[in-house]
Amino acid sequence: MVPRRVRVVLFFLFLVGVVSIFSSTPSEFKEHVDRHALKYRKWFGEYYWRSDLLPLVDLESTDWLVTDTTLLTSTVAGFNVFDKLYLRSGRFYAVARDPSSFPALESILPLQETQKDETATPSKMHIISPDDANKYLGVRAVVLDGATFIFWDSDPFISHYYRWWGELMLGAMRVYSGLSFVPGIKLPLPEPRRFLLPNVPEHHWRDSAGVNGPILRAGWPSTSIEGRDFWEDLIYLNQTYVFERAMIVSRPAAYTSPLRAQWFKMISTVMGMAVPNAFWAPTQHRVVRNTLGYLPYLNEDGVVASPIASRAPIVTYISRHSGVKKINRESQEGLVKALTELEQEGVCELHVVAMEKTTFSEQLAIIAKTTIMIGIHGTGMTHQLWMPSSPRSTVIEFFHPNAYPNDYELLARNVGHKHYAVWNDTYATHSKIPESGIVEYGTRLSLNKDPIPIHGPTIAEIIRRRLTSKINDLYP
Ligand SMILES: *[C@@H]1O[C@H](CO)[C@@H](O)[C@H](O)[C@H]1NC(C)=O
Ligand SMILES: *[C@@H]1O[C@H](CO)[C@@H](O)[C@H](O)[C@H]1NC(C)=O
Repeated sequence: MVPRRVRVVLFFLFLVGVVSIFSSTPSEFKEHVDRHALKYRKWFGEYYWRSDLLPLVDLESTDWLVTDTTLLTSTVAGFNVFDKLYLRSGRFYAVARDPSSFPALESILPLQETQKDETATPSKMHIISPDDANKYLGVRAVVLDGATFIFWDSDPFISHYYRWWGELMLGAMRVYSGLSFVPGIKLPLPEPRRFLLPNVPEHHWRDSAGVNGPILRAGWPSTSIEGRDFWEDLIYLNQTYVFERAMIVSRPAAYTSPLRAQWFKMISTVMGMAVPNAFWAPTQHRVVRNTLGYLPYLNEDGVVASPIASRAPIVTYISRHSGVKKINRESQEGLVKALTELEQEGVCELHVVAMEKTTFSEQLAIIAKTTIMIGIHGTGMTHQLWMPSSPRSTVIEFFHPNAYPNDYELLARNVGHKHYAVWNDTYATHSKIPESGIVEYGTRLSLNKDPIPIHGPTIAEIIRRRLTSKINDLYP
């Protein structure tokens, strides 16, 4: 006979065990998964690992299987978030109670007119009613847990530093962070579990500078990046899968946004949506900290306060010697002279980052403590994503006379830097550009290949003002 006290203790331990097993699965799925698990347990007895929690769900319960579009983000064409998005034979299925109230397919995943991609036709997504669910999806689905970011872009479009980080990731993070305003969404939002690129074979998403992959691993070392082979494996298995949460990002869908007429770029569509303050900061922090091992901290004057203090705020000139866009030689000398004088005066500490000659980590070590970044219009300006946001943080971008592609202005506005566009000795900030009369706002004039004139003292003047004005005078 076992003493009563021992029985009580054993019973208590049993309870703790049951509670801990059941409380460690994602709650949405738990009930349904567990119902299945009980059936299997009869056959297999006890498990020494968690195979009893087979990620299978039962699709015969209509309450459960309905796909939710998250309300706020369903208005952002090209960046749509779904809870319980189904996938079978290479097609997405959303199960909607009222299919007519669902966002229009062309704002989710339309024909890729711009890319002439045969694989991406409207037949890639279907919106079905709960009554039809078993017909299309069968009676069970395998769960792909956590949040999946699905980038529908194709190779070679995707293999570009700016397009990956400045459009797909920035847009996706902006929309994803907006979920925090949706009632009933559990916070903090889980990290993306996987990035899925159904149209991209092998490693063709990688950019020529070789930074997209490393930056992604820095930010999310445990997150997988899956390409077309993953997609094809699932087709081969001929099962129904359900993404616990998925965001479908589609460039042609994004272009259907009315905001495109104002901003022209893929991320135009996200510009109108409310997001938490500093929505980009967690990404910037992870990438910087996981690459360098520390996160520089700037004080109110823009001076690096830690971990290694700087003498003055850091001004970084992103210089590119290859590439078609160059500053003319005279301007280059004038610019370096004007910047050096500022440094000698103690207004700033000047760093020149030669993109071609330094590794990404070396570049990041400087960018991550930079208050003002200057450089010619081009991919290098994407580096501002890793620059800390502060009241003084500024991006100064040089353009050919009369040209104004606004790619990096959009990045600056998204991540909280003040952006100046400079044409030789004339400049404008985004709030002034529409009235300036210098350029037709947003037009993409053909970029001529002549070297660009830049008046050094004009740049020095902007920097001086941004670094020496009182904080309150920095806001127009
Ligand atoms: C896939 O599964 C469906 C439904 O179970 C079946 O009708 C179909 O023949 C299968 N296709 C292949 C290629 O196995
Ligand atoms: C650039 O600006 C400077 C200063 O106003 C001026 O002297 C120079 O001629 C300008 N260069 C061009 C190419 O317009």
